[in-house]
Amino acid sequence: MRRLSRANQDRMADSSAMATEVLGGIAVVQSVAAEGREAARFGQAVQQTVRAALRRARARAVLVGFIILTTSAALLWGLYLGVVAVQEGRTSAGMLGQTVVYIVLLASAVAVIGEVYGDLQRAAGATERLMELLGTHTTLPEPAHPVALPPRANGAALALQGVGFRYPSRPHTWALQRITAEVQPGQTVAVVGPSGAGKTTLFQLLLRFYDPEQGHIALDGVPLPQLGLAQLRQRVGVVPQEPVLFAGSAHDNIAYADPNASAARVQAAARAAHAHEFIEALPQGYQTELGERGVRLSGGQRQRIAIARALLKNPPLLLLDEATSALDAHSEQVVQQALESAMQGRTTLVIAHRLATVQKADVIWVLDHGQLVETGTHAQLRDQGGLYASLAALQFHAAEPA
Ligand SMILES: Nc1ncnc2c1ncn2[C@@H]1O[C@H](COP(=O)(O)OP(=O)(O)OP(=O)(O)O)[C@@H](O)[C@H]1O
Ligand SMILES: [Mg+2]
Repeated sequence: MRRLSRANQDRMADSSAMATEVLGGIAVVQSVAAEGREAARFGQAVQQTVRAALRRARARAVLVGFIILTTSAALLWGLYLGVVAVQEGRTSAGMLGQTVVYIVLLASAVAVIGEVYGDLQRAAGATERLMELLGTHTTLPEPAHPVALPPRANGAALALQGVGFRYPSRPHTWALQRITAEVQPGQTVAVVGPSGAGKTTLFQLLLRFYDPEQGHIALDGVPLPQLGLAQLRQRVGVVPQEPVLFAGSAHDNIAYADPNASAARVQAAARAAHAHEFIEALPQGYQTELGERGVRLSGGQRQRIAIARALLKNPPLLLLDEATSALDAHSEQVVQQALESAMQGRTTLVIAHRLATVQKADVIWVLDHGQLVETGTHAQLRDQGGLYASLAALQFHAAEPA
């Protein structure tokens, strides 16, 4: 019962995970006319769930049937022996009747216990999965006594010392290797490099989604593992490459980091992100529902909401993953302005895809195959004729002013 119940639960989880994934990407599914294929795949998953449920029900039926059969048989046999004993005068009819009543009571109690035991086994099977999840240990131990960070200043200092990292799921390749660099408070660093160079990975380490395998990273002089995770992430604002919005109002989405933020603070963040004007123009202003994943906004508007969200807590360290998706010239310009005002008065690391951003950076880090291959300003690196020069010629050329 326990094993079958577990299997049933697993199949159910599989099919609902599949449904969630496919419905989330329904636009892609429809755009390649894969509805039939997905429906068939889901049908198979549901069939497996039904099969698992049937196996469980069958096992249960056999169990219960067996219990009823054996108790009835025992009862009948006992009754027969009792009748024989009464006939032979070894006991009285009253005594037999009394015994039968007791045994029936006892047998039904045992049957109920058997049923409850079956239910318990079923619950145990279902709970196993839950317990496994609850028993998962984090690979990011939090310190028992977190070190206090120095009071926040105009920006944070960062230091990376020989950082090396491999993703646990890909232990044979180094995603980052021997990264040693420093960022002074208030500096803007542009991180550039070919696709797959390790730029996003670097951000994940700075947010301590993973710990580096070699070397260490320090924020304001304190190694990250000595800080509480909440304490670290309180100091870091992130604007991801693809903005993530939730079903809810514009206000709720911006105030996500601090649900108690006042309307004035939310508006100030929106202003800084150049989002205030378009939000005001929405039917219900800040209370307008943005739809699931923010589907009722344009790409550029979603990006500005994401920037406003990162700015709300006024983080001394800002991590920006510039969107690669092309926006029209006007939204592009507004988002650019929003990013520029976001960088004011704080330390910013920006994964840059635009010439305007790299030109304004204090220093550029060029990553390639997980290594920091060049550092310097735009002018220095361009004249050096290395990887940056060729990247700049390819990626940024179109945007370069004549
Ligand atoms: N979760 C993961 N598990 C295993 N490998 C990963 C994971 N995420 C990224 N990688 C690998 O690590 C390398 C660096 O990826 P990363 O996302 O940092 O690239 P990137 O520089 O941000 O590229 P892009 O400019 O395309 O965003 C890639 O080879 C990628 O395949
Ligand atoms: Mg990336």
